[in-house]
Amino acid sequence: MTDLGPVPWPPEPIRTGRLVLRESEPRDRPAFIDLASSPDVHTYLGGPQPRDELERTLPAVPGQWPGSFVVELDGAMIGQILLRRATEHRPAAVGKVDLGYLFLPQAWGFGYATEACTAALNWFDSALPGEPVVLATQTANTTSMHLATKLGFTELERFHAWNADQWLGLRPPTKPSA
Ligand SMILES: CC(C)(COP(=O)(O)OP(=O)(O)OC[C@H]1O[C@@H](n2cnc3c(N)ncnc32)[C@H](O)[C@@H]1OP(=O)(O)O)[C@@H](O)C(=O)NCCC(=O)NCCS
Repeated sequence: MTDLGPVPWPPEPIRTGRLVLRESEPRDRPAFIDLASSPDVHTYLGGPQPRDELERTLPAVPGQWPGSFVVELDGAMIGQILLRRATEHRPAAVGKVDLGYLFLPQAWGFGYATEACTAALNWFDSALPGEPVVLATQTANTTSMHLATKLGFTELERFHAWNADQWLGLRPPTKPSA
């Protein structure tokens, strides 16, 4: 995966009803460590990383690249949204922008992921108009599959990789409003 390419970055912080989407800052580092070391977050993502290793190796400002949004609730990071251009992927996805999302378990079940991803996709539609977005998730990850469907992704294909059944979805380019 690579970053998005020539987009204006960072954008102004994006405010939704309850959340702020913004570029990563030094104060987010502990939450990035919580995200990457959480067994619950990584059940379908290949497993968590050891916390002590993350403490040693994570940069001072993790996740600071075009397309990586920190999602903030009441002043604290609760998740990350990743929009990256896929260089190694299924043939149908290579070259397209791929959406990923990870939220801390205490933030699940409140609709924050839907709210934040909708805002990130709206930003994407204005930054790179006319581009589709792909999304891959394990079929066993039912909450992620549900979220993808709510966001307008439809199935392109199912495949087996990384020792699990996977789902590849596509969100077609949105039509510019007249
Ligand atoms: C995938 C993941 C982001 C989904 O999080 P989530 O909190 O379940 O997602 P949603 O934003 O869709 O919210 C879920 C529920 O909150 C409920 N909710 C509660 N209050 C709400 C509100 N005010 N507004 C909207 N929904 C609300 C909704 O009922 C919704 O469920 P429904 O769609 O069945 O009605 C989360 O499970 C996660 O981070 N998993 C680990 C990482 C991962 O596997 N990522 C996938 C890799 S691509």
